Amino acid sequence: MNLNVNIDHVATLRQARGGIEPEPITAALIAELAGATGIVCHLREDRRHINDRDLSLLKKLIQTKLDLEMAATPEIIQIAVKTKPDLVTIVPEKREELTTEGGLDLSVDTEKFELLCQTMHENGIEVSFFVEPNNRLIQIAKDISADMVELHTGNYANAKSEQAKLIELEKINSAAEFASKLGLKVAAGHGLNYLNTPPIAAIKYINELSIGHSIISRSVFVGIERAVKEMVELINRSSSI
Ligand code: PXP
Repeated sequence: MNLNVNIDHVATLRQARGGIEPEPITAALIAELAGATGIVCHLREDRRHINDRDLSLLKKLIQTKLDLEMAATPEIIQIAVKTKPDLVTIVPEKREELTTEGGLDLSVDTEKFELLCQTMHENGIEVSFFVEPNNRLIQIAKDISADMVELHTGNYANAKSEQAKLIELEKINSAAEFASKLGLKVAAGHGLNYLNTPPIAAIKYINELSIGHSIISRSVFVGIERAVKEMVELINRSSSI
């Protein structure tokens, strides 16, 4: 199972002082050396962490896969088409949120998302939609020609009891199976850390994980290289693919 490392929070730290350090590009390159199979960044409308310069340098410098998380707004779509990441992951975006809250409702504005898929495909960019583990939404993603779905693991990560966690895990497992059988690639992410990732990594229908906050948090103490390596090892120990 692949691990794509989200480096937004390195940029968040840089923006705290509005200066030039820490450099998110350095973080991305070290993450790649440590075994990340891709780098994820979210270019938000308000540019609160990753900015246009970061995205352009990442595209030039990383050697694995660049996954641009983005809202389906005309400005960011235009930037994606110009930058040509390997993959765009479409997320809902609210200005007031601290991080992405919940999956995208593909049943609203479906035509807009279908058009987005067409535009990205014409430019050689794959499309993933960040959705709740819900078969109806996954079917819509398939119907509008998505390449991948990323299943939101936030409810699993935030579950308070073991029983609630198991219920959320089963939802993710069965949604991943449904998506995989439709021929979609399957990713999962949000709120995954060194304690709750193993059961998700054991789901055989999931191809890749997108993890940011926990890895960057651990890297404050042990460095990015070790933080990424530890997550890669943990995933490899748990994963059957
Ligand atoms: N996947 C998506 C679609 C996200 O929006 C985020 C948060 O930026 C992540 C994965 C990573 O979540 P976390 O930072 O909690 O690991």
